[in-house]
Amino acid sequence: MIRVSTFAELRGSLTEFWSDRTPIGFVPTMGALHRGHVSLVERARRSADLVVMSIFVNPRQFGPNEDYARYPRPIEHDEQLAEDSGVDVLFTPHASEIYPIAGGVAIASGNAARRWEGEVRPGHFDGVLTVVAKLFNLVRPDFAVFGQKDLQQAALVSAMVRDLNMPLGIFIGHTVRESDGLAMSSRNRFLAPADRQRARVLSRALSAATSSFRDGERDPGAIESAGRAILDSEPEVHPDYFAVVDRRSLEPATRDSPGDWAVITAARVGATRLIDNALLGEPDGD
Ligand code: PAJ
Repeated sequence: MIRVSTFAELRGSLTEFWSDRTPIGFVPTMGALHRGHVSLVERARRSADLVVMSIFVNPRQFGPNEDYARYPRPIEHDEQLAEDSGVDVLFTPHASEIYPIAGGVAIASGNAARRWEGEVRPGHFDGVLTVVAKLFNLVRPDFAVFGQKDLQQAALVSAMVRDLNMPLGIFIGHTVRESDGLAMSSRNRFLAPADRQRARVLSRALSAATSSFRDGERDPGAIESAGRAILDSEPEVHPDYFAVVDRRSLEPATRDSPGDWAVITAARVGATRLIDNALLGEPDGD
């Protein structure tokens, strides 16, 4: 694995692959890598001869009261896991090169960013899409892989690529979970032991919603009630939302297209905020 930090080093390591048109797959991350990130690398490897990963804790996607300063940065562990999972080029840029000036041109994430995560975290998706667009321009991949775990993020990245005619494909990788169902996340390490137990209620609530759909329920409100009944059984878990939506637009579900629905949730458990989701119809194949 080659490790590069500056733009010039990145260009130096990729030039030959750009010119001989080697298929390049890209996995952007903020580090604190876990098996979820590894699964995205494996997905990239299936379609690419060269796999590039970035690790960059992006200050612009954190709000003023969020956890930018204490976001975990275990760089030696990350380098090892990236290498073991088959990353060819690991790009760890510095904030000073990514953002040389304040107040530069940025991406506006549009209407689909107003709801859900965007409502609770104003400006978050502008920051995500701005750094993702910059990383795409720096790496120039044939495709990039994002996790279904962050469904609204994946939907917005796909919308950006479509709306701005960016020349790459987007693949979505399935969510990797702990054995008790909790979706893997770099933030799970912040959960105190009692909160770690309570956090299982998120995936249990999603399962209740998917079971109700599988049993034939097609009223979005009734599916939400089936999940909320489970969520409400854990009073120390404070939901921000639990909603049935169209999996691509993230608009609240209408009765027309249940095959495209997903159920999404976010909740605070102690000082940690967790998000998770499940597809209600068939999974998306790519
Ligand atoms: P980060 O939270 O590090 O996630 C990097 C990628 O891993 C995202 O596409 C995310 O959806 C995916 N991922 C996280 N947990 C996963 C899990 N349990 N199973 C499968 N995939 C999972 O998302 C970001 O970083 C940033 O917003 C970024 C896109 C890098 C822009 O800064």
